[in-house]
Amino acid sequence: MKGAAFPRTLSEIGYAVQTGLCSQRRGQSTSPLVLFASVEVAPFSKVGGLGDVAGSLPVALAGTGVKIVVVTPWHGELDARAGVVERTGFSVTVPGLAGPETFQVWRAELGNGVPVLFLANPNLFGAPFVYLEERDRERFTAFSRAVVELMPVLSADVLHANDWHTCPALIWHRQLRYRSRALYRQRSVLTIHNLAHQGITGAGYARALGLEVDEFLEEERARYPNTINLLARGILAADAITTVSPRYAEEIQTPAFGEGLDRLLRQRSDRLFGILNGIDTVWYNPATDPALPGHYSADERGGKALCKAALQRELGLVEAAERPLVGIVSRLDRQKGIDLVIAAVEGLIDLGVQLVVLGTGEAGLEKQLAEVSRRFPQAVASVLRFDPLLARRIYAGSDIFLMPSRFEPCGIGQLIALRYGSVPVVYQTGGLADTVQEWDPSTETGNGFLFADHTAEALLAAVRRAVGVYRRLTEWERLVANAMRSDVSWARSALEYVRVYEVILGMATGEWAPSPPAGH
Ligand code: GLC
Repeated sequence: MKGAAFPRTLSEIGYAVQTGLCSQRRGQSTSPLVLFASVEVAPFSKVGGLGDVAGSLPVALAGTGVKIVVVTPWHGELDARAGVVERTGFSVTVPGLAGPETFQVWRAELGNGVPVLFLANPNLFGAPFVYLEERDRERFTAFSRAVVELMPVLSADVLHANDWHTCPALIWHRQLRYRSRALYRQRSVLTIHNLAHQGITGAGYARALGLEVDEFLEEERARYPNTINLLARGILAADAITTVSPRYAEEIQTPAFGEGLDRLLRQRSDRLFGILNGIDTVWYNPATDPALPGHYSADERGGKALCKAALQRELGLVEAAERPLVGIVSRLDRQKGIDLVIAAVEGLIDLGVQLVVLGTGEAGLEKQLAEVSRRFPQAVASVLRFDPLLARRIYAGSDIFLMPSRFEPCGIGQLIALRYGSVPVVYQTGGLADTVQEWDPSTETGNGFLFADHTAEALLAAVRRAVGVYRRLTEWERLVANAMRSDVSWARSALEYVRVYEVILGMATGEWAPSPPAGH
């Protein structure tokens, strides 16, 4: 940190939050403050589910009375969106690879009065992309360093980091806590959204980035010699680790899903919590969503048929109300099991369904999908772009939502699909298994269909079960009602995060969370 005026004025931001001046709902005066750090925060930036969670969980937490400030890089040029953000006039300077890096601090509001601080630095974050691969370690390490600088200035109590990108912040925070009066009471949480990305960094480069490297972890030596693993070190540095579903929390402690870190995660299992993601049910609401041609709710579902017909038209598919329309909105990669869909496509067509796939990703998969829709133009539509509005029209217009992910920490798509009454058919893994229950006509329970073998045959069998029910109208109506009534909000999960904060701060249960959040 540099400049005499800067700490005082940044403290004012902290003060404003502490005293509820940021129009954040006033919590108890003793309520601790969380600094929530993520390199994606929707709606400002979003590549995947991380952005959705970072944009909605803090809002739900604020609804419980938690004081929370979100911090994220500003990606791209700032002028472009100048109306949305306001300059604070403050800056943070941290050591960088080629000398000091200065971040200008800008500010906006998320919802429920939650402030978002944007750290802008054109050298590191001037490109309008969240991820650049090549320089990501350098960029995210400098950002993380700045986040740690903000902790004492904001008088924060909890540093909440997300994925490997902000793990350097956990590592420094842990080191500095032993040396600094201002930090020693602070605690930290790491949320793992995807264990597959770990931030593996050559030791020499890591030192140049300012990280201490004296010895290597077993996991680091086992993978690539002379590298450090930022996620592994974050797991060790954090006071608590959470991941985005209970089942994934179990899975990652096994070699099959542990991505080489299962031993470490087992070692920390007493501090590892699985908390399901939710979605912002005010934003994602088929009764009001402005992207939809028709509106509907769990009780009054007429508008859904309109959405389906409009979608079939928009995609150039045969406009047939009786044909089940299967939707996929996904990153197109191996994790998401898109290869399985391609293998099953003819079987799907034989079942009489139409298929729409929206997403971008691996070139090979994009090419195969384009070919499939060329071969079956009336039954398969592949839209290979990022289009959040079309995505919502697909959730609303489809009957069945397919998610055959090989592994899925939580998954957001099936939650939105449930909310929009598109019945999920999913592989039984991670958060998919935690949020979708197989339909049982005898008890009229369940909200979707699952398959337990990751094969095209098992996928087809599950879609066949779904199509079977689709053809029995009253049964299908009950199932859709169940789907739409599933609780996909943040209400319960936000309180579970509060509980984690209480645990690491040594507080009693309920000391912190005055009220369950409404509507999120
Ligand atoms: C990652 C995971 C996904 C999860 C999301 C948000 O994108 O792959 O399963 O829902 O993060 O936590």
